[in-house]
Amino acid sequence: VKTGFVSLVGAGPGDPELITLKGARAIEQAEVILYDRLINPRLLDLASPLATLVNVGKAPGECGRPRQETINALLVEYARRGRRVVRLKGGDPFVFGRGGEEMLALREAGIPYEVVPGISSSIAAAGAAGIPVTHRGLSNGFAVFTAQSAADEDSVPWAAAACCPTLVLLMGVEALRRVVDRLISNGKPGDTPVAVIERATWPEQRVVIGQLSEIIRKMSNINPPATIIIGEVVSLHPTASELSEMLLEYADQP
Ligand SMILES: C[S@@+](CC[C@H](N)C(=O)[O-])C[C@H]1O[C@@H](n2cnc3c(N)ncnc32)[C@H](O)[C@@H]1O
Repeated sequence: VKTGFVSLVGAGPGDPELITLKGARAIEQAEVILYDRLINPRLLDLASPLATLVNVGKAPGECGRPRQETINALLVEYARRGRRVVRLKGGDPFVFGRGGEEMLALREAGIPYEVVPGISSSIAAAGAAGIPVTHRGLSNGFAVFTAQSAADEDSVPWAAAACCPTLVLLMGVEALRRVVDRLISNGKPGDTPVAVIERATWPEQRVVIGQLSEIIRKMSNINPPATIIIGEVVSLHPTASELSEMLLEYADQP
């Protein structure tokens, strides 16, 4: 019996050129690809015309979105049928991507697998907006949290988060008001610079800059997916015209 194989592949943040060579090769060789909502569909052009493409990530609110258990079971099932499977996930599979759960399901089922890391939006969003997450003299470290769990006060160590030189928040658009309250009540100054980067590295990338105390008002028309950067490094952001020149690079992709 032919043994299948699963590659958990990070697709990067959006720009299809930001996938790794190893990830692109895995797509080319795949017989089955289970892909997420946030990946750039142009990456699927790399697949063989014979490959089976399965969308397992419908938009939030759309019904029929497969549950994680179903995705795990599909990975195992295709591999047991001897298929070469790619699980293509936005950013890096192990950064808020539930890639760990998929890896454990494969391991438990005795399916051989590999992990192909990807460029996570937690770093790429800042980079694409011209903001270094660390910078000598301004920030000697950064931490990444999901803001989605902000309703549960114990899930994020707020006092520690408030002291982080650079704080990166994913899934934060809806929860940001609570995050701002928690950070300010834990001592983060209201004038700390904040950047909200929507659809980083996509042609429609947008960046909103403000201070912690005013960012909610300023980002009222920002939609997910967006990454939020909080810290003095944000003050290094390029001017709007410099940024639009950077954005042209994305817009000009063939
Ligand atoms: C479920 S998490 C997955 C993160 C992914 N595994 C990664 O490493 O980038 C989804 C969140 O990632 C962030 N995100 C993903 N793609 C993004 C992009 N192109 N620009 C800004 N943020 C993005 C947003 O915060 C979004 O809500």
